Amino acid sequence: MITELNQRLGGSATQPTPVKAHYEKYVYPDLPRLASVRGCDAYALNLEALWARFNGERLDPNEGRILLAGCGSFSPYPTAVANWRTPITALDLSTANLNRARQHAWLHLHFNVDFIEGDLTRATELFSEQAFHFIDCYGVIHHIPDDAVALRTLHALLKPGAFARIMVYSRCARRSIQAARRALRLLEIQNVQEIRALCRKARSGSRFRECVDAAPEAAFDSGLADLFLHPYARTYFLIELLAKLDQADLELLGFIHPGALPDIGAEIARLRNLETARTLTTNFILFAGRKEDASRRRVWKDFKARQETWVSLNPVIKKFLPRFPLIPIKPAPRLGFDNPVINFAEKRLLARFKTPVAKSVIEPDCLEAVEKRLHALFLIETQN
Ligand SMILES: C[S@@+](CC[C@H](N)C(=O)[O-])C[C@H]1O[C@@H](n2cnc3c(N)ncnc32)[C@H](O)[C@@H]1O
Repeated sequence: MITELNQRLGGSATQPTPVKAHYEKYVYPDLPRLASVRGCDAYALNLEALWARFNGERLDPNEGRILLAGCGSFSPYPTAVANWRTPITALDLSTANLNRARQHAWLHLHFNVDFIEGDLTRATELFSEQAFHFIDCYGVIHHIPDDAVALRTLHALLKPGAFARIMVYSRCARRSIQAARRALRLLEIQNVQEIRALCRKARSGSRFRECVDAAPEAAFDSGLADLFLHPYARTYFLIELLAKLDQADLELLGFIHPGALPDIGAEIARLRNLETARTLTTNFILFAGRKEDASRRRVWKDFKARQETWVSLNPVIKKFLPRFPLIPIKPAPRLGFDNPVINFAEKRLLARFKTPVAKSVIEPDCLEAVEKRLHALFLIETQN
């Protein structure tokens, strides 16, 4: 069926697939090349911090390997801001996206990214198996007709203990966008100018207007094209997504979309209730690891509960801490919840962890604040 679908989508060895052709035409996201991110907002992409969270080990950043699977035109830059010493591989189908991403990273003086054109579903032909510690696959799987193969490939490319961040569209949250997309297709509307004209004409309060107004990417042409003209964009009910992960031998490690609960079971129940009530408004963002590594993660969980651990600063927060001005700053929420503000008192609290501190020496009245910062990933906890 997948082969049929691929054929229907028109891809062949010599002709680009419609998905590739789409991204050659519409660079996504189409941000100005000088658009920059605040260093502190990249904290949740730092490999050492994430490795510590899932494995409780210190990872030498020079030894780590990161893959951006379907990198688009921008993500190599913030990933490099978060991981300035780690080799990053940026893989994408689209030459136009790769060129733009390279320009963006280079203009901001980040040179630790290799840009490779290729298809995620065939990435084991490009890289050796178990090659990466962290794979970021954000907003890509739902554009791949053979999503099962793509997920299996992610699994094959993960090293023992490694993890992937995955974002896919939720059926419920994308309902009105998908409906508008189908309607535009029926009306044979195939370019952004016509959609813009329709947007201008759409009555305020109409479903089309509401769904355009609610989507920040509608502000730029390639975003509008991504919303309404994409040749292949499927959506998932939670249960379908969980089954796909399971079939690919990937274990769900936690959700990080806005409002996600830290407990996986509780979050699954919450999402399913929202789906039943048709009121879910977020796409799914999660971390997944190899099922084979479940026992290794359990060992770390048990160790943490029973033995001495060490608490230190997330390297990104450490790097940018001296640069935080007197005006309080709140790093952007990247893990599904609001962050603590970094003001003078917070800076003092965090500064204590510039070098690792044994958890047992942290005063009991400080522990709650430290746990909160560990949860926020401003601080990291390791076995040594
Ligand atoms: C919506 S964009 C997301 C880009 C980026 N991950 C981000 O979050 O900004 C989807 C990207 O996935 C790429 N893509 C789609 N299918 C792919 C495939 N089979 N292999 C590699 N890249 C793919 C597209 O070319 C596009 O750049």
